Amino acid sequence: MIKRGSVLELVVEKVADRGKSLTRIDGYVIFIQGGIPGDRLRVQIRKAKRKFAEATILEVLEPSPDRIEARCFHFGTCGGCKWQHMSYDAQLAAKRQSIEDALRREGGLDGISVNEVIGADRVFRYRNKMEFSFSADRWLTDQEIKSGEPLDKSYALGLHVPGNFSKVLDLKECHLHSEEGERLLNRFRSFTRELEWKPWNIRNHTGFLRHLVLRKSANTSDFMVNLVTNGYNEERMEACAALFKDEFPEVSTFVNTINTSVAQTAFGEEIRTIYGSGVITDKIGRYTFEIASNAFFQTNTHQAEKLYRVAAEFAELKPTDRVFDLYSGAGTISIYIAEKVAHVTAVELIEAATENARRNAEANGVKNVTFITGDMMKLFREDFIEEHGRPDVLIVDPPRAGMHPKVVDQIIRLRPERFVYVSCNPISQAKDLAKMKDVFEIEAVQPVDLFPHTYHIENVVKLRARPNG
Ligand SMILES: C[S@@+](CC[C@H](N)C(=O)[O-])C[C@H]1O[C@@H](n2cnc3c(N)ncnc32)[C@H](O)[C@@H]1O
Repeated sequence: MIKRGSVLELVVEKVADRGKSLTRIDGYVIFIQGGIPGDRLRVQIRKAKRKFAEATILEVLEPSPDRIEARCFHFGTCGGCKWQHMSYDAQLAAKRQSIEDALRREGGLDGISVNEVIGADRVFRYRNKMEFSFSADRWLTDQEIKSGEPLDKSYALGLHVPGNFSKVLDLKECHLHSEEGERLLNRFRSFTRELEWKPWNIRNHTGFLRHLVLRKSANTSDFMVNLVTNGYNEERMEACAALFKDEFPEVSTFVNTINTSVAQTAFGEEIRTIYGSGVITDKIGRYTFEIASNAFFQTNTHQAEKLYRVAAEFAELKPTDRVFDLYSGAGTISIYIAEKVAHVTAVELIEAATENARRNAEANGVKNVTFITGDMMKLFREDFIEEHGRPDVLIVDPPRAGMHPKVVDQIIRLRPERFVYVSCNPISQAKDLAKMKDVFEIEAVQPVDLFPHTYHIENVVKLRARPNG
C-alpha cells in the first residue's frame, strides 16, 4: 500500500504534464518531480491520493541514458528551466509525446500523426526578454540554510520559485538570456544594494524596486533595460542611467515603468524613457519589428521565424486569399504573410499591441492588413463577418486558455476552407479541436520548440473543412 512517507524504488516510464514524469504501479500513477524516462530511482511519496501519488527523488540509482549534467547552478530550485538535466533530443521527444497525449486524452483524437518537433539551433541564451523580480522576501535554498552562514533574506533579484507567489530566488546566473544580461543583473544587484534602495515588499506594499526587464534584440544590437519602480525618483534614474552608460554601453535605451499598484506586474501606469528611443527593433525574416517595453513579442526570435514559416506553409496561401489572423498581438503573423495574399484582417484585444502592429506594418511597407482592437468573444459575430467578408483562410493564435466557446462556435459556422491553429498550450488546443472535429479534418500537426529546457512548446495544426461537415 503506497502512502505518504513511503520510500520505494521505481523506473520512470514517461514524461507527464508540466514537466513532471510518471510511472504506473499496478495502474496506480506516481508523478515524480525531476525524473527522466528510463531513470531508476529511490523516491519518497509526499502526497498520496486515491488515483495518484506525488513523489520526490531521494536518489538516482541508475540514470537514464538521457540524463545529463544541468548547466546552471540554480537548476532544481529555479522555476525557469525544468529539463536542463535531460538531453535536448529527449526534450524534443517528450514534447512531441505531450502533444500526442493531449490530442488523445483531451481531444479524443486518436491516430493523428504528430511530426517530429522542429528543434532550436541555439538551446541556451535564446530568450530575447527576461523579466526579473525584486523582493524583500528571498528564497533560501536547502544548501544555503545548511551552510550555516549568515544570510540576508531581505533582498532578492531573480525569478520566483515555483509555487510560491512571494519568494524570489536571488539569481546569479541564467543561461536563457544573453551574457550581457547576466552581467547587468549581477551588477545592478550590487549597485542597488550599496545604495540601499529597497526591494518591493509584497506583504506591506513598500519598497522602490519592483522588476528589471531586459530585452535584447536577436538580430540587431538593440538592448533595452526597463526598470519597474514604485513611483518616480529622478535622482535615482539619473544614477542608473550613469551606471548603464558607463559600464554597459550596449544598453541602447533605458525606460522606467512606474507601477504603484499592488498588482505584481511589470506593466504600470506610466512609462518614462530615460534615454534612447524607448523601443528596440528586431527582425523576423526580412521584416523589422519595433518592440515597446510593454509589447508582446515571441521571446525566441529565431524560432518564431520557423513557427511563422510553418503557419504560412500550412495556410497554403494564394495571391487572391482573404485571411483572418485572430489573436494577432503586435501583428507579426499578419505582416509576415501579407505579401503572399490579397488581404489580412487582424484582431487583437490590447490596443497598445494593435498600435504597435499598425506602426510595424507601416515601417515594413505593408498596406493590405486591417488591424482591429477588440475582444474576440464579443466581436466575432455575424456583423463582423458581414463587414469584413468570409475568409478563405483562418489563422488563430490564442492565449494559453484557448478560444472562448462562442469563438469556436463561430468558426464552426464560418467553416473556412483552410484553417491553421497555432497554440502554446496543446491541452487547450486539443479541447478546442475536439469541438470542431466533425467540421474540420486535421491534416498535419507540427510542433516547433521555442523554449528549450522547459516543457513549453508551440504547436501548429493544419485543418481543412470537411466536404460535408
Ligand atoms: C499567443 S499571443 C499571439 C500573438 C501573435 N500571434 C504573435 O505570434 O506574436 C495571444 C494574443 O491574444 C491576445 N488576446 C487574448 N485574449 C484575447 C481576446 N479575448 N480577444 C482578442 N485577443 C486576445 C493577447 O493579447 C495576445 O496578444
